[in-house]
Amino acid sequence: MTEKKAVVEAAQREEAMNKRGFPAGSLHERFEFRNIFPEEGKQAAEIENICFPPNEACSERMICERAAKVSELFFTAVDKSTGKIAGFLNGIATDEQSFRDEFFKDAGLHNPKGRNVMLLGLDVLPQYRGQGLAREIMHQYLHRERENGRYMLVLTCLEEKVQMYQKMGFDDQGISNSTWGGEQWHEMSHMLDGRQ
Ligand SMILES: CC(C)(COP(=O)(O)OP(=O)(O)OC[C@H]1O[C@@H](n2cnc3c(N)ncnc32)[C@H](O)[C@@H]1OP(=O)(O)O)[C@@H](O)C(=O)NCCC(=O)NCCS
Repeated sequence: MTEKKAVVEAAQREEAMNKRGFPAGSLHERFEFRNIFPEEGKQAAEIENICFPPNEACSERMICERAAKVSELFFTAVDKSTGKIAGFLNGIATDEQSFRDEFFKDAGLHNPKGRNVMLLGLDVLPQYRGQGLAREIMHQYLHRERENGRYMLVLTCLEEKVQMYQKMGFDDQGISNSTWGGEQWHEMSHMLDGRQ
């Protein structure tokens, strides 16, 4: 990412937050941003079931396995007033460049030194939506993985979410090979190594 693109994205985030009446910084007063604790896997699985229909949701087994084995890429926003997870973003690292559905099912595919991160779910509970929380979670995740020297983040999403991820700096690569949940998915990627 060029310095110019980073500055533009930061300004967009700030503007969006101010527009909603949640000035920049307020999310950090209300939420703790940290990796999941392995014992919180079940809680995250319940959130996944609230956020996604049954055909799209990852199972409790998949989520708990990721929370236990890949907690360094399972990033959460925890409501400081309740100590409970309000939203999260999780993924696994790999040297592969393109998404395949096995990444959802097998946390054993995680390669800690992998150059790329395949994102497997962005979830925000309904009562916390519309406040810029997803955007902030993604922003922090991107920043951290850039610092960790990753090359690219990849995700799949339905057509209706393409614009949302474009606003977060992702590029639409067209229709994915994924057939997850019997639906058609777009593959989107975000370079981290200074190529964009
Ligand atoms: C999608 C989801 C993560 C958004 O969380 P959120 O905290 O409300 O999102 P934010 O407030 O950070 O919004 C970020 C931007 O995305 C847009 N956006 C949010 N929800 C959206 C939706 N459902 N469809 C399209 N765009 C959306 C917002 O308008 C906002 O853009 P703006 O800053 O220009 O106004 C949340 O609604 C959710 O968990 N949904 C169910 C699970 C899901 O669909 N996850 C993504 C699947 S790939």
